[in-house]
Amino acid sequence: MNAKQKSITIFGADGQLGVDLCAVFEGHNLEPVVYPGVDIRDRSQVGAVLDRSRPDWVINSAAMTHVDRCEDLDLAAYQVNAVGAKHVAEKCRASGARLIQISTDYVFDGKKEHPYVEDDRTGPVNVYGLTKLAGERFVSNAAPDTIILRTSGLYGTHPCWGKGQNFVDTMLELAKTKECLHIVDDEVLTPTFTEDLAVVVRSIIDKSPPGGIYHATNAGQCSWFEFARTVFELSGIRIRIEKTTAAEWNAPAKRPSYSVLDNRRLQELGLDTMPTWESALERYLNKKYPRGVDA
Ligand SMILES: NC(=O)c1ccc[n+]([C@@H]2O[C@H](COP(=O)([O-])OP(=O)(O)OC[C@H]3O[C@@H](n4cnc5c(N)ncnc54)[C@H](OP(=O)(O)O)[C@@H]3O)[C@@H](O)[C@H]2O)c1
Repeated sequence: MNAKQKSITIFGADGQLGVDLCAVFEGHNLEPVVYPGVDIRDRSQVGAVLDRSRPDWVINSAAMTHVDRCEDLDLAAYQVNAVGAKHVAEKCRASGARLIQISTDYVFDGKKEHPYVEDDRTGPVNVYGLTKLAGERFVSNAAPDTIILRTSGLYGTHPCWGKGQNFVDTMLELAKTKECLHIVDDEVLTPTFTEDLAVVVRSIIDKSPPGGIYHATNAGQCSWFEFARTVFELSGIRIRIEKTTAAEWNAPAKRPSYSVLDNRRLQELGLDTMPTWESALERYLNKKYPRGVDA
């Protein structure tokens, strides 16, 4: 059975990643599930959806994703990112569906200086990361064949509901009114285009690999400063940008200073089709702004 014959239910289907997931599975037997129609914090709502759709695969892309807001809304973040994920996994186990749980680079503490592999020790430094890690533990206990897919720095053509504008669009918007921008240079990650991630998710469903943790980001790494500089270079925008530090920026949530992921397990399976973050960004800009960016 190839992915086309499989039935797939997606929680968080109208989110930034969810919309691209729905696009790659167009023409499949697809059930997109959106909030607030279905709230994954409510076990019975999750159960009713999966009893109706009886999918072969479930993708849980639903989460509370606003990293700073999670610091104050810690209980709500735990309810969605950990308990909600557990509800989905328990029902998958009971109904025989396989689950892909989307997770994050923010489960790591950032003390490493080269890319994190899947079995590196976790140590979240903020509430969002803690709740997502709790979600990972819950889903792997409830349904051991779950694929936990950690990714990083997502941006896509559809807005991230949890955060509002993505980083790229925020930079382009700020450039319209500011003469100089200060961007954090001591947090290094791999920005990842949701379209590329969605293609990898489709290959995973085609191949049906063993359960466990997998990393999936675009290739390469950069700081937020380097990412912003490349956004402006590729868009032909001239603006002064200066480096700042996370300490000076003083966001409510601490972030890991280094959270680059090594897609090692996907590579071993021949499933790492992820292009570089620079080429992904270029494709994103061409798609989102086909007539160029107004500066
Ligand atoms: N964004 C990133 O940079 C990033 C990085 C690494 C990993 N991830 C992970 O990637 C996944 C997708 O993130 P995204 O960027 O697509 O974020 P997003 O646009 O905020 O999508 C999350 C979706 O979850 C829904 N949701 C929130 N609370 C819910 C609940 N109680 N029940 C059901 N659905 C609920 C949201 O609905 P509403 O909008 O209506 O609230 C939204 O549609 C998440 O698991 C996230 O943790 C994201």
